[in-house]
Amino acid sequence: MTLQKTSDKKAILVTGGSGFIGSNFILHVLSKYDGYHIVNLDKLTYASVKDFGIEAGRFPNYTFLRGVIENKELVDFVFSTFDIRGVIHFAAESHVDNSIANPAVFMETNILGTFTLLNAALNHWMGGPGKVKPGYEECRFHHVSTDEVYGALGETGKFTEESSYAPNSPYSASKASSDMIVRSFNRTYGLNTVITNCSNNYGPRQHDEKFIPTIIRSALNVKKIPIYGNGQNVRDWLHVQDHAEAIDLVFHRGVSGETYNVGSDNEWNNIQLAEQICAILDDLAPETLREAGLNSFSELMEFVKDRPGHDWRYAIDSSKLQNEMGWRPRIAFQDGLRQTIEWYKTRYQDLVMS
Ligand SMILES: NC(=O)c1ccc[n+]([C@@H]2O[C@H](COP(=O)([O-])OP(=O)(O)OC[C@H]3O[C@@H](n4cnc5c(N)ncnc54)[C@H](O)[C@@H]3O)[C@@H](O)[C@H]2O)c1
Repeated sequence: MTLQKTSDKKAILVTGGSGFIGSNFILHVLSKYDGYHIVNLDKLTYASVKDFGIEAGRFPNYTFLRGVIENKELVDFVFSTFDIRGVIHFAAESHVDNSIANPAVFMETNILGTFTLLNAALNHWMGGPGKVKPGYEECRFHHVSTDEVYGALGETGKFTEESSYAPNSPYSASKASSDMIVRSFNRTYGLNTVITNCSNNYGPRQHDEKFIPTIIRSALNVKKIPIYGNGQNVRDWLHVQDHAEAIDLVFHRGVSGETYNVGSDNEWNNIQLAEQICAILDDLAPETLREAGLNSFSELMEFVKDRPGHDWRYAIDSSKLQNEMGWRPRIAFQDGLRQTIEWYKTRYQDLVMS
């Protein structure tokens, strides 16, 4: 296959666009805008969404490339072939447990990969420090990051954009490093960058290994629902569609060099979250419940050995994004959770039947 730019639309490179958040974001952008050609560069690791190529392939202004972001020749080739005018960088190793077992690939992808992309953007868009090439003034690098870079909170308080970085896992340390490299390319070379640091996402297309899909899958298979430690760890949960809309806003309207926190004042500890999911499943899967001889799927909850270095609490103050750009999370948690559970229930039933 010969690769070439075939459209006059503005080419945006989305990295990791076949993963959980990237796939939801690409569908959001392709449905909303007509003026972009989305080029998705993804390694297709185990975490990528099966059949996303079919979902996205129905849009003519979408190109998929399988490859790794730390491959300099490939990334330079993509920039020049498609004349890339913007980057939205999702690609990452993202599972904390995996980062404890095998940190090396987190450093390669999350740190070296981010550097490789930044360098390609710098060379393609700029002629030296502070010198943007004519015609490339609007080009922007949007780095998608996490609230985990700030470490853990106690009972009170929230992370703001001014909070110090204090990452505790190899995953969050690799993301914190990548944030710093992005910052340095902005401060040193004047590269047009923005960073968003978001809280935990939930919604369709998340990999089975993550907490919410694990609860749903375990319950529907009448298996023990594993809850780390004493189940008191608190996370601020945001629907992936609300995150996609925040990225869309910051990419288009954020101020170069700035960081924006994204979260939804929606804190639950792991026991509370699992109980809510079980209550919805009790309603959605009464036959499974009856056949298993249970009154509620919550009876399957079981405490398991805690994750080493498990952060106690994350909470995000997103007032900067709300005040400056009018962003608000739109999806009420109970609605989003129910819709997410219905999506997985259908998916798991299809898997059983196929
Ligand atoms: N999931 C969350 O709750 C959350 C919250 C805040 C921020 N984030 C950040 O958002 C981004 C996306 O997270 P996600 O949950 O969609 O992750 P994911 O693990 O679901 O998807 C990651 C995607 O990146 C691809 N990828 C991995 N290594 C690659 C490489 N070397 N080259 C090219 N592609 C590669 C994978 O194939 C996969 O499709 C990450 O940067 C993550 O740190 C995630």
